[in-house]
Amino acid sequence: MTSTTAVRRVVKPVVFLASLGPFAWLVYGAFWGDLGVNPVETITNHTGIWTLRFIVITLAITPVRWLTGFNPIIHFRRMAGLFAFFYGSLHFLTYFVLDHSLMFAGVWDDVVKRPYITAGFTAFVLMIPLALTSSQGWIRRLGGRTWNLLHRLIYITAIAAVLHYLWKVKLDTTNPMYYAAIVGVLLAARVWRRARQASLAARVPVRGEA
Ligand code: HEM
Repeated sequence: MTSTTAVRRVVKPVVFLASLGPFAWLVYGAFWGDLGVNPVETITNHTGIWTLRFIVITLAITPVRWLTGFNPIIHFRRMAGLFAFFYGSLHFLTYFVLDHSLMFAGVWDDVVKRPYITAGFTAFVLMIPLALTSSQGWIRRLGGRTWNLLHRLIYITAIAAVLHYLWKVKLDTTNPMYYAAIVGVLLAARVWRRARQASLAARVPVRGEA
């Protein structure tokens, strides 16, 4: 078995099941009535933090590949992104259904008036085109260049998600600041890599030049 086949047949299903762990934790807690004194808050916070964690994992895959040269890791990027969208959808639905009883006017009121909801909503809405166009078919249809450009929306999603968390937490901002730092490093790595590639390209002599 080649390393790519092993990743596809063995590691991927294991990672998929592990990624369902936070969801299983919620189902288990709901079943046994073990979600604390405010279950809606527990569900919202749990799904919110896992959305952010999967966004960070998605963003980390490419830099980890650069650092380690372990190319099969790229097969996990789509899965991580779709899990971010899965937990983000659960997070939004909890808020929409349990907090606002399916009244979109109430949600919109919050989006307009509360900056942390504006940021969360922006992060979530930008994930929709990414999830919809994540398949190989869409890469072919859009062309690699356009697809890559579109999928840079993940950077704005990540920044908006961190702001959402920072603005939601009023007192102790330690945890949001950790996420802000990690997202900052992951975005800076891309800027650094692009600058380095541009400077290397500029150094390659054009044919005919000395
Ligand atoms: C990418 C999208 C999003 C991410 C990554 C995200 C992440 C988070 C995180 C990390 C928390 C705090 C968890 C904690 O304190 O332990 C949170 C809380 C919250 N989020 Fe989001 N969020 C997103 C989108 C949204 C959207 C679209 C809405 C609603 C329109 C929303 C509404 C809320 C609310 C109301 C809370 C506070 C829950 C409470 O304290 O009761 N979020 N979110």
